[in-house]
Amino acid sequence: MSDIIGLGIESSCDETAIAVVKNGEKVLSQPMFSQVALHKKYGGVIPELASRSHLEKITFLLEEALSESGIEIQQIDYIATTVKPGLVGSLLVGYQTALALHWKTGARLLPVHHLEAHLYAPLLSGASFEYPFLGLLLSGGNSAIYRISAPGEVKVLGDTIDDAAGEALDKAAAMLGLPYPGGPQIEKEAGKFLEVSGESEASLREKNPLAIPLRDLPRNEIRFSFSGLKTSLLYLLKKNSDEYTREALSFYFQQRIIDAIIRNVEHAVKREKVLRVVAAGGVTANSMLRSALEALADSMKFSITFPERSYSTDNAAMVAAAGYIYFRAQKFPEQNFVSSDNKFEFKPLRE
Ligand code: KG4
Repeated sequence: MSDIIGLGIESSCDETAIAVVKNGEKVLSQPMFSQVALHKKYGGVIPELASRSHLEKITFLLEEALSESGIEIQQIDYIATTVKPGLVGSLLVGYQTALALHWKTGARLLPVHHLEAHLYAPLLSGASFEYPFLGLLLSGGNSAIYRISAPGEVKVLGDTIDDAAGEALDKAAAMLGLPYPGGPQIEKEAGKFLEVSGESEASLREKNPLAIPLRDLPRNEIRFSFSGLKTSLLYLLKKNSDEYTREALSFYFQQRIIDAIIRNVEHAVKREKVLRVVAAGGVTANSMLRSALEALADSMKFSITFPERSYSTDNAAMVAAAGYIYFRAQKFPEQNFVSSDNKFEFKPLRE
């Protein structure tokens, strides 16, 4: 079979990225422009500045992606572009670029769901996918477990009712005086504490002073909630006692988060009887979480797949990889607009 060449476009938030990917796994080029410096002084992403910056960069990145890959524009079989969820103005820049390319070349236009794309990122390291599988997505904006039965057939098994795991880690880090993004900082501090304490994680769990998220959640329900945990950290800090160091509180906070994730994955695997789990999103870069998930997978005999760390944050190669899955299945979602919602349905504008 001849090679399938895909172009991936990602512009849902503050990164403009284009990738040329062969057969859904071999990345031929992936130039990217990060807007972090542009938004830094405002302490968050300013949507209008983000879309303007996408507009300024995207054609240059496209030229770079093509020339670096050695691929002619006419050789592209499909153009995969993120259409949801994200900042609408930013998404539009990527979508319009994809549309223009589609009109010029006749290559298939494939609308891609950003969160689904995260779950297919392991394709880029040669992983293969069998259905159904469970998707665990843990990022700054999402904490959820999905059941994926086929491309585009995604059922939400459980979501967060307040903060996402990454968001909670970022906020806890700010409370502890650690810089943004907080997840890696908390991980570092937690590691130091574990080392000097000389105790096992299990014995430290017994001493953990922070609230257990959703302690009374019925066994077969899958749900995340981290705001109570955050509040318990705040109250403890307000007491101003010197009983706990910053390292200790980082450890205890992270332990509660990891335990909640493990609890939910365990129930999802039991309830759904699906023995394949794919974990994605920035929080899965956490080594203690990875070890805990691997230990659970070992004891419950399910497989666990992570993307390479370089593909666990936002990128265009994963968008092209997800597009490949649809292209190969000859499944062409009809969505012809962009949207900020994260529903796993694609709809044409007029029905
Ligand atoms: O998926 P992601 O890169 O981007 C968005 O959500 O946009 O996730 C970012 C989140 C942040 O909250 C960050 O603190 C968290 O992932 N994170 C980590 C680690 N590295 C990044 N959390 C825990 N441990 C880490 N090593």
